[in-house]
Amino acid sequence: MMKRIGLDVLLFGLLIFLMCFKIFPRRYHEALGVVIALPILLHLVWNRLWFSSLRRGKWSAYRKLSAAVDILLIVSTLVALVSGAAIAHRIFKGIFGLAWQKSIFVHQLHITSSYWMLLFSGLHLGLHWKALWTRFVLWRGWDVSSRCYRLGARLAVAAVVVFGVVGSFLHQAGDRLFMEHVFFRTNTPARDLPPTAFLLLFIAMFGMYAVAGYWAGRKAPHTSE
Ligand code: HEM
Ligand code: HEM
Repeated sequence: MMKRIGLDVLLFGLLIFLMCFKIFPRRYHEALGVVIALPILLHLVWNRLWFSSLRRGKWSAYRKLSAAVDILLIVSTLVALVSGAAIAHRIFKGIFGLAWQKSIFVHQLHITSSYWMLLFSGLHLGLHWKALWTRFVLWRGWDVSSRCYRLGARLAVAAVVVFGVVGSFLHQAGDRLFMEHVFFRTNTPARDLPPTAFLLLFIAMFGMYAVAGYWAGRKAPHTSE
């Protein structure tokens, strides 16, 4: 159980680091961009039962939603990894040849797919949050029925959503998700912020997507007709 949570935390940390391309030396981005493939692969291997169970059982609305998010997450991850390798020019040069490396479309695709990956991984965590948090709280022995806990949880969610919205504007997430001239507007307003704020706003955006996933997961029926 702790091994799994450890891997989830590592994946989250690497993803946020990669999203912060602009504030870390670029060669680390290429190196860790390749490294992240390993924990992703391990995460998929540890969850391999999900793949084999796809053809079994009943499909409740929750299961359909969760599977759709998982598939979109896998696709966006693959596109981010392959397009990243194609445009690499610091550590890994011209893996797919110069035409790919210089293609504006592939550069745009890389940026767009990474923002979709952030969105789908947030939704993905939100959809798993209840099970994960219940196990964690039991392990820590926290009293989740206390007023103090409930107030703290509400304040945390409100803060994540407010900063998530602010982050979406400052990182121009809409433009990036929909490939709107991203290549010509590489300097977003977030670039002028101190590096810590730049990074925290990505975490808040991820958190906001997770809140949306959690909310959608609670609304979707868990049983099928
Ligand atoms: C921020 C990064 C991520 C976090 C925090 C995360 C978290 C989780 C959690 C909590 C689970 C439930 C089982 C467990 O506790 O391990 C899970 C399952 C799963 N994850 Fe992830 N994950 C992340 C990234 C990814 C990525 C990038 C992929 C695909 C490329 C992926 C694919 C899957 C699949 C296929 C399952 C099993 C199906 C399911 O239960 O929905 N995850 N993940
Ligand atoms: C899933 C993993 C990855 C994520 C989430 C990711 C994310 C990002 C982000 C957010 C940017 C900056 C976008 C912007 O201008 O706002 C970027 C740029 C870049 N990434 Fe990645 N990346 C990943 C994997 C890789 C890999 C594997 C490589 C190469 C081996 C790579 C190479 C690059 C390069 C060269 C740029 C500069 C693009 C340009 O100047 O247009 N990335 N990446």
